[in-house]
Amino acid sequence: MRKQIVAGNWKMNKNLQEGIDLCKSIIALTSEVTREVIISAPYIHLATLVDLCKGTNLKVAAQNCHHKQSGAYTGEVSTAMLADLGLDYVIIGHSERRAFNAETNSLLAEKIDAALSQNLKVIYCFGETLEERKSNVHFDLVRTQITEGVFHLSAEQMTKVVFAYEPVWAIGTGETASSEQVQEMHAHIRQVITSKYGSEVAQNTSILYGGSCKPSNSTDLFSQTDVDGGLIGGASLKVTDFVSIIKA
Ligand code: 13P
Repeated sequence: MRKQIVAGNWKMNKNLQEGIDLCKSIIALTSEVTREVIISAPYIHLATLVDLCKGTNLKVAAQNCHHKQSGAYTGEVSTAMLADLGLDYVIIGHSERRAFNAETNSLLAEKIDAALSQNLKVIYCFGETLEERKSNVHFDLVRTQITEGVFHLSAEQMTKVVFAYEPVWAIGTGETASSEQVQEMHAHIRQVITSKYGSEVAQNTSILYGGSCKPSNSTDLFSQTDVDGGLIGGASLKVTDFVSIIKA
């Protein structure tokens, strides 16, 4: 059985005290939850959040990492440093980093290797823009993002990777992909994984949906056959919304 996961991506939001308060509230309200719950916070909050989450069900993720382990890379943070904090996950390939930091599939493949080499699990994000969907290249594009990002991994390494389909046109826009569109793409993603790794690996891979996921649509989205939870942006910043999504 693949894991059901809800992850909150705080992006560049929350100062430290706000993050601590939010984290404590989530811990208090999700102790009975069977889904895996993850919060992904700015680097400078991670050490504190890892401490707060010790002995709880809540897991902590970084939002990015560098692809090298050390050296003259001013302003960067390595996966060795993240692993040393006791972190569980790192998000790699978020569309905002692809767009604003020119991150390519081949660079992301190197980041994934760097994370796995430090025993960090990966949430690998990808998805098409509105233009790409309108031009009907979205299925091919997602196939390429997956092929170039993770197909160099072994089947064993694939067990450490969670996929997150985030159509760019649905992120932060209030416009959610319909549950039919999401299911159709998630089935495609699982088929792409099957074509390389076989159905056992594909069936055990968690595929999350992200993009304007909120309490009012999460139940419908999460009930689709190939949707194994969500990666939540805006709604993860409000405890009531986030907890309601976790319990959807
Ligand atoms: P929103 O939920 O704010 O659309 O963001 C989704 C996202 O980018 C999560 O990584």
